[in-house]
Amino acid sequence: MSPLPPLALYIHIPWCVRKCPYCDFNSHNAPQDLPQREYVEALLRDLDRDLPLAQERPLHSIFFGGGTPSLFSADSIARILDGVQSRLVFAPQMEVTLETNPGTVEHAPFAGYRAAGVNRISFGVQSFDDAALARIGRIHSAAEADRAIKQAQDAGIENLNLDLMYALPQQKLAGALADVEKAILLQTPHLSHYQLTLEPNTPFAANPPPLPDDDSAWDMQEACQARLDEAGLVQYEVSAYARSGGECAHNLNYWRFGDYLGIGAGAHAKLTSPEGPIRRRWKVRAPRGYLQYAGTERAVGGDDVIAAEQLPFEFMLNALRLNAGFRIADFSAHTGLARESLEPALSRAQERGWLVLDGDEVRTTALGRRFLNDVIGAFLPERPRTRLIHGGPAHA
Ligand SMILES: C[S@@+](CC[C@H](N)C(=O)[O-])C[C@H]1O[C@@H](n2cnc3c(N)ncnc32)[C@H](O)[C@@H]1O
Ligand code: SF4
Repeated sequence: MSPLPPLALYIHIPWCVRKCPYCDFNSHNAPQDLPQREYVEALLRDLDRDLPLAQERPLHSIFFGGGTPSLFSADSIARILDGVQSRLVFAPQMEVTLETNPGTVEHAPFAGYRAAGVNRISFGVQSFDDAALARIGRIHSAAEADRAIKQAQDAGIENLNLDLMYALPQQKLAGALADVEKAILLQTPHLSHYQLTLEPNTPFAANPPPLPDDDSAWDMQEACQARLDEAGLVQYEVSAYARSGGECAHNLNYWRFGDYLGIGAGAHAKLTSPEGPIRRRWKVRAPRGYLQYAGTERAVGGDDVIAAEQLPFEFMLNALRLNAGFRIADFSAHTGLARESLEPALSRAQERGWLVLDGDEVRTTALGRRFLNDVIGAFLPERPRTRLIHGGPAHA
């Protein structure tokens, strides 16, 4: 039996100052009086109940995602991290990321976050153009983002990510490139570059703004990628760019099909049991229900064993996002399946020029990256089937 995969921890904070019209994350308008103390206690009750699933592995990374984790004070973040550390072993130099909306940090709490144990900040910048920010309903200006990033750097947090979106309403190629240019000047080790997508059940889906067409969006992606590459920020995943050594350890663990615990409203987990089955588990989405039931069975939204025939697809959904691809030995170690389970899809994808096989290593070609959904879809089982233990649909 292979050793269990590395274990990460995802912590979800489900509130934002104001919901953005394009966003379908589990985020809710924050109440006047944010129940920080109650939520910290709920998270730790939730973790207590999930502890056996860690199988005594050390934690490899922690990610505070949202919603807007920077709505929580440094003191609340410290109490969460202290609580986690009293329950689980931290790997040396473990990455601890906190997602931050630049419109929520006017009092520059970065020294406090750092003292609490946060060593990486991810900023939701989206654009450095105030008109573009207004069109997508953001609460902050470009100057506020710029100031917040510099304040984090001044507080000694060097490991920063900027989230930018492209193909924004009315955006032209020059606008997308100007955003990337400004990001390069800030010299962060990481950049996430997402195409704005219309997500079902959002105000933007109901009332779409004038978005660039697919060809224009592809041109933006290619031009920005080339410029970032030139500036030393190399694409290593569909939307992720890093200087050497600046890759996000937490996200790499997802893409390498590692394990993770998920605590907080709507948080998802993926866990391998020593006996073999791999399960996904998620918590109820509504903050109120979560606060009430965290730590009990009623806070579990669902629990799914991934059927063996579904595993090649689930693995590819993650691993093929990485430009470096994966090793077949790692596929077998993380899924318990032999190389044969990837056939005939692997051979067909090679014949179509989507994938190359180099010894034990599999990676996408430029053509494969252009048609990534088709490549991943090739690994779907003939008749998809997952065994549901209980619970409803899985949403983050
Ligand atoms: C949870 S949010 C990040 C932190 C914080 N909530 C914020 O927005 O400032 C994660 C990132 O997902 C991206 N995102 C959210 N909705 C998206 C959409 N519909 N299309 C593309 N990217 C999206 C944004 O870049 C956002 O920064
Ligand atoms: S994009 Fe970020 S700030 Fe906007 S609603 Fe979503 S999670 Fe909240």
